[in-house]
Amino acid sequence: MDVKKVAVIGSGVMGSGIAAHFANAGVPVLLLDIVPDGAENRNALAEGALARMAKADPAPFFTPKTARLVTPGNIEDDLAALGEVDWAVEAIVEDPEAKHALYAKLAGACRADAIVSSNTSTLPLKLLSHGMDEAFASRFLITHFFNPPRYMRLLEIVAGPALRPEILETVSGFADRRLGKSVVLAKDTPGFIANRIGTFWLEAAVHAAFELGMGVEQADAVLSRPFGIPKTGVFGLLDLVGLDLMPKIAGGLLATLPEEDAYRTLHREQPFIGTMIAEGKIGRKGGGGFYRLAKSNGARVKEAIDLTTVAYAPATRPRVAETARALFAAEGPEGAYARKVMGATLAYAAGLVGEIGDDAAAIDTAMRHGYNWKHGPFELIGEIGADAVIEAARADGWPVPPLLEAAREKPPYDHSGEAPAVLMPDGAYRPVARPEGILLLADIKRRSKPVARNASAALWDVGDGVACFEFTGKMNALDRPVMELLTQSLDHVGRRFKAMVVYNEGTNFSVGANLGIALFALNIAAWDEVDKLVKDGQEAYKALKYAPFPVVGAPSGMALGGACELLLHADAVQAHAESYIGLVEVGVGLVPGWGGCKEMLFRAKADKRLLKGPMPAVSRVFETIGTAAVSKSAAHAMELGFLRPDDGITMNRDRLLADAKARALALAEGYRPPKAPEPIQLPGPSGRAALSLAVDQLAAAGKATPYDRVVTGHLAAVLTGGETDLMDAVGEEELLALERAEFAALVRQPGTLDRVEHMLETGKPLRN
Ligand code: NAI
Repeated sequence: MDVKKVAVIGSGVMGSGIAAHFANAGVPVLLLDIVPDGAENRNALAEGALARMAKADPAPFFTPKTARLVTPGNIEDDLAALGEVDWAVEAIVEDPEAKHALYAKLAGACRADAIVSSNTSTLPLKLLSHGMDEAFASRFLITHFFNPPRYMRLLEIVAGPALRPEILETVSGFADRRLGKSVVLAKDTPGFIANRIGTFWLEAAVHAAFELGMGVEQADAVLSRPFGIPKTGVFGLLDLVGLDLMPKIAGGLLATLPEEDAYRTLHREQPFIGTMIAEGKIGRKGGGGFYRLAKSNGARVKEAIDLTTVAYAPATRPRVAETARALFAAEGPEGAYARKVMGATLAYAAGLVGEIGDDAAAIDTAMRHGYNWKHGPFELIGEIGADAVIEAARADGWPVPPLLEAAREKPPYDHSGEAPAVLMPDGAYRPVARPEGILLLADIKRRSKPVARNASAALWDVGDGVACFEFTGKMNALDRPVMELLTQSLDHVGRRFKAMVVYNEGTNFSVGANLGIALFALNIAAWDEVDKLVKDGQEAYKALKYAPFPVVGAPSGMALGGACELLLHADAVQAHAESYIGLVEVGVGLVPGWGGCKEMLFRAKADKRLLKGPMPAVSRVFETIGTAAVSKSAAHAMELGFLRPDDGITMNRDRLLADAKARALALAEGYRPPKAPEPIQLPGPSGRAALSLAVDQLAAAGKATPYDRVVTGHLAAVLTGGETDLMDAVGEEELLALERAEFAALVRQPGTLDRVEHMLETGKPLRN
C-alpha cells in the first residue's frame, strides 16, 4: 500500500512535529485537534501549532514552504476529510479513555483499509487495543516517535498479534525510506526500549550523584563525552525534558513493570528534586533547573545548582578521563560514579534482551537514535570490557544476566563476516537484522584495506566498480594531504573504477579548510604557501569536475566552505536530507577560493528563474556568499543554489552511500565529462559599485561591520568580473584567477587574521 495522504490527530508537541515531518517527506497532512471551548476559530489549536512551528528553532520543517503541505483542521468538522487518508497517527493526551473514544471515531471516519497508529509513550498496545474489533486491530499499531520528530532518528514500532504483516511492512518501509527513521521493533512492554533503559539510567545517575556527593557539572562531565553521550549528560537532559515529568514517568513504569524488575529496587523518592519541582525549578521551560542562565554585567552566565545547598554558582565542567574504559578504571569520585551508574545501567540492559527487543542490536540502535548515544549499551560493554562491567554491577548487588556473562568470552559484536553479528544470551551469534539495501562504509572499513590513504583522507572500494573518497582528518577538515590524495585518487579511479563518490560517516561531511594550518601560515606570512594551496585546490577540484568518470558528492551534516566547493564541482550530489551546506568564507574574512564563486556564478547564470542580464545572477550569488548563508536542510540548499534541482535527497542516513553509489553507476553508463561552460557576461566595475552601495546601506543600518565592507568589496570584485567591461565575456580560468587574486589580497590584511583567530578560539565569527 502506498501512503499518499495522512492525518495526525493532536497538534501538541509531538503531533505537530510528526505532521511537519510527514510534510518533509512530501506527503500532504491533515492536522486535527479538538475545538476549544467557546472558540470563534474552530481550528485555533492546529493553526496555533503551525504558527508556533514557523518560529521554532531547530525548525520542524525543511523549508518554510514545506508547511504548505499541512492543512489545519479539527476533529469535529473534518471527519469527511479523514476518509481520504491512508494513515492516521494519533498523538493526543496520554489518556486511555480519550484515546479509546478517538479510535471509535476513527473507525467510523477513516477508510476500512486505513492504517491507524498511536504515538503513546507509556500505554501498552494490549490496553489500547482492548475492545477493538478484529478488523480495526488488524490495522492498528504503535508508532513511537521521539522528540523532536524531524531530528530524532528512532521510531519504535510495537506490533500486536492481530496486525496484518503487510501493514507492518508498509509502515516500517515508509518510516525507513521516506521519513528516514531507524525502525526498531519493540515488544509490548513498559516504556518500550529506549525509555525503559533511559529512565533507569537517569534515575541511577541522580541517586548516585547524591550518594557520592557529586556536583552537577562533575556528574555530567562523566556521563557525557567519555561514554559518547550528548554533552547535556544527565542533569542537563533532565532540565531539557522537565523535572516535573520524572515522577509521572516513574509512576507509569512502576504501575506496569514486572515484579522482579531492577527498576523497582533502584527507584526511591529524591526529596531534593521534590523541593525543586515545588519551587518551580523544573528545567528549561521553567527558567532553570539543575542549570540556569543568569545575567551578570549584561553577559549570560551558565550556573549550576549545588546539590546540598540548593544555591546556584557559575558552572565549570571539570576535566575527566577521556574514554569509558579509562573512567571505569579510574580512582577517585569520578571513576566511582561512572562504575556505579553505568555498571547498573549496562547490566540492566543486558538483562532485558529478549524481553523488550529481539536482540542487543535492537537495544543499541534504540539508545543511539532515541537518546543520541554514540554507542549503545552493548557497544559500550564491548569497549569497557564485560569483566569490568560485571565487577561494577556486583559491587552494588545488581544481578549479572547471562548475556553479560557470555560477553566475558566473546565480544558483543562479531565483525569477521560480511555483515555484523550480535551475541545472544545463549552465547551464540546471530546476524544483525537490517533492512534491505543499507550500505555502510563502517562495515567496508572493518573488513577491507583502503585502496589508498594518508593522514587526512582515504579511498575505499565500495563494490560494483565504485570507489569512495573519505575525509578522515579532525572534523574532516580539508588540508594539503586531502588535496594530494584526491588528485592521486582521480588517477586510481580512472584506471580501476567506473565512478567515485565522496562520502564519509562523520557527524559532519566537512567543516571546510583546516583553519589552524591557515592561521599558522598567516602568522608567519607564508604567502607563497597560502597562494599555492589555493591554486592547488582549484586544480584538484577542476580535475574532479573534468575527470573521465562521474563523481557524486554525498554530504550529511555540515558541508561548509571548501567542502561545499567540492560538491559544486561534482557531477551530481546525493545529499542526506539533513545537509547544512554553505560558503561561509566571509565569516573568516575570505572569499571562496577553490572555484566556489565561479561555480555559483555559472549556476546562477543558467538559472531560468532569474531575470536575464548580468546583474540578477551576480546579485543573487553575492547575497548568498556575502551573508555566509548555510542551508537548514538539503531542500533548503536547493533553494539557495548549492544543490541543483535534479540532485538527489536521501532521507535515511544509512541509505546515503547506497543511493550515491546507485546514482554514480547510473551516470557511469556512457559517461562524458562536462564541457567547459561558455564564458559569461559580467557587469564589471559599475556592477561592483552597485553592490558596494548596497553594503554601505546595510552598514549605515548597523547590519554590516566595517570589515564586512572590506571583505564583501573583494567578493564583489570576483563576482562582477574584476576590471572587465560589459563587452568581454569571462571564462572559468579568468574567474579562478580573480578568486586567487582577491583571496591573496584578503589574507594579507589584519582584519582577516583577527577573524580566523577568533573563529578558531570561539567557533563563532568575529564581527570586526
Ligand atoms: P501535548 O499535550 O503537547 O499535545 C496533546 C494534544 O492533543 C493537545 O493539542 C490536545 O488539545 C490534543 N487533544 C487532546 N485530546 C484530543 C482529542 N480527543 N482529539 C484531538 N486532539 C486532542 O502532548 P504531547 O507531548 O504531544 O503527547 C502526545 C502523545 O505523544 C502522548 O501519547 C504522549 O505520551 C506521546 N509522546 C510524547 C513525547 C514527548 O516528548 N512529549 C514523546 C513521545 C511520545
